[in-house]
Amino acid sequence: MIITTCGNSIPIARRLAAALHATFSPLTISSFPDGDLYLKYTTALKGQNVIIVHSFQPHSNQSLFNLIFAAETAKDLGAKKVILVSPYLAYMRQDTRFHPGEAISSKIMAKHLNRCVDKIITIDPHLHRYKSLKDIFTIPAVKLTANALIADYIQKHCKNEVIIGPDSESFQWAAEIARHLRVQATVLKKTRFSSRHVQVKMIKPISIRGKNVVIVDDIISTGHTIAEAAEQAKKMGAKSITAIGVHGLLVEGAMAKLRRAGVNKVITTNCIEHSTNKIDVTPLLLRELRKEQ
Ligand code: R5P
Repeated sequence: MIITTCGNSIPIARRLAAALHATFSPLTISSFPDGDLYLKYTTALKGQNVIIVHSFQPHSNQSLFNLIFAAETAKDLGAKKVILVSPYLAYMRQDTRFHPGEAISSKIMAKHLNRCVDKIITIDPHLHRYKSLKDIFTIPAVKLTANALIADYIQKHCKNEVIIGPDSESFQWAAEIARHLRVQATVLKKTRFSSRHVQVKMIKPISIRGKNVVIVDDIISTGHTIAEAAEQAKKMGAKSITAIGVHGLLVEGAMAKLRRAGVNKVITTNCIEHSTNKIDVTPLLLRELRKEQ
């Protein structure tokens, strides 16, 4: 088994390789003077299972392109099987044509992966209008969840907490984590006006006064969603606010925005590398990859 990366997720790839006693062989990736992608394997792949560990952040577009080149090249060099381990799978939020003429990015991304990899393993993909990865993937597609790891983190680090999901889709994380912890949870109703303008409203109120509120979502991108939820929670008398995201994209000054909204702590998993990473997803991936040995 050969474990490689296309530039992202190097620490996870290294840890997986060490635990699986597999060869870790990162790709050489650069560009020609005109900007064309240059990619090279430095290990023989013939007859091997090649695991490409690669989150689609930072630089989701370049990440997809690098991955397609890496997977196609692995096949071309005689790899037996090419498995993509993508802790964060991008493009999943554009799962419909919200406005006439738009690309349904998730379907296009999946079409490319269906062609060039044999299997995909990912963590908490944004499944909203799709009910399962099978809706877009024809290859075996495994969805893992960090819910138990997040619940474990909350149990160790928080007290007297309630869980809030900032929108209806976050039910799959917030409610599940609250169930693990046996604490109260509620999910807010979000209205999205644009990718940078959202409003949230609590429709099933729970008592928040004096509580440590933990807001849980799959993705924290610009931070607008969590910031709105935090402001509501503050108004309702929350004692402290912790925001936990499986995938911390944290773009466009998200951290400052969250602080201004009263968020005391931002915690993420290492699906995407960031200074807020406190929850390690390697054990989840390891369990799944052991099945390939
Ligand atoms: C979308 O519904 C996701 O679950 C997140 O709520 C969303 O992507 C967060 O984006 P932002 O941080 O930009 O509000």
